[in-house]
Amino acid sequence: MYHQTIVKTNAEDVALAAKDWLIETIQESIATRGFCSIALSGGSTPKRLYQLLAESSLEELDWSKVTLIWGDERNVPHDHVDSNYKMVREAWLDRIDPRHSRQLPHAFPVQISVNSPDRAAAEYELQIRRAIDPKGEYTNDFPPIDIILLGLGDDAHTASLFPETDALEETSRLFVANYVPKFAAYRLTLTAPMINSARNVAFLVCGISKRPALEVVLHGPRYPSEYPAQLVEPKHGRLLWFLDSAANPDQS
Ligand code: 6PG
Repeated sequence: MYHQTIVKTNAEDVALAAKDWLIETIQESIATRGFCSIALSGGSTPKRLYQLLAESSLEELDWSKVTLIWGDERNVPHDHVDSNYKMVREAWLDRIDPRHSRQLPHAFPVQISVNSPDRAAAEYELQIRRAIDPKGEYTNDFPPIDIILLGLGDDAHTASLFPETDALEETSRLFVANYVPKFAAYRLTLTAPMINSARNVAFLVCGISKRPALEVVLHGPRYPSEYPAQLVEPKHGRLLWFLDSAANPDQS
């Protein structure tokens, strides 16, 4: 597995480095396969990256060949303050001029059904297949997402794969509803085998609060039920860690 760690002084430089890598990798994917699929991370860390994507001149990219899905979502309506879709729309998508179709990616948010998260997850699984494997080349397998962006919680969760939750054991589904006792709520998330089928997985991790979790994920005992981010080991893809110095456990 190709593994690379990129350390920057601060969160702004992490976002800038991640943006440059993302643009380059999207261009590579479009050149190779004619399009690029991206699973977006939620939370606060990637917000600046999404803002940079909205602000920078993207003439070098035909975003109409880019498909966006969500790597995980909260079980709330799209206008709820906790919605990852809302966060991405406000940071990025709503800031694109709709007259510039080349700058508009195809976004497929999770169609939330608060009272039936399992059904919403099953429907999104079909949506993911339609969006990233339109020719059905991977009907009986995990279709590879070109780029998955991930964050890391200070409890070492990633996506909505939280410690000691059922989704950690999933081996055949792409996307599931996952009950998270600490929130007494459902989340919806890509599964570990789906993440590990990706061509590129990039973590963005910033801030001193993440250092202990990163220390144990990278250097601690293998204990994925407690440290779910340890499940992320792309079978054939590249794994990159974009860190700031504060989060970097190898920073003196
Ligand atoms: C979410 C994310 C989650 C996030 C981590 C880190 O829906 O919240 O997908 O996995 O990446 O919790 O969140 P911060 O970036 O806000 O620290």
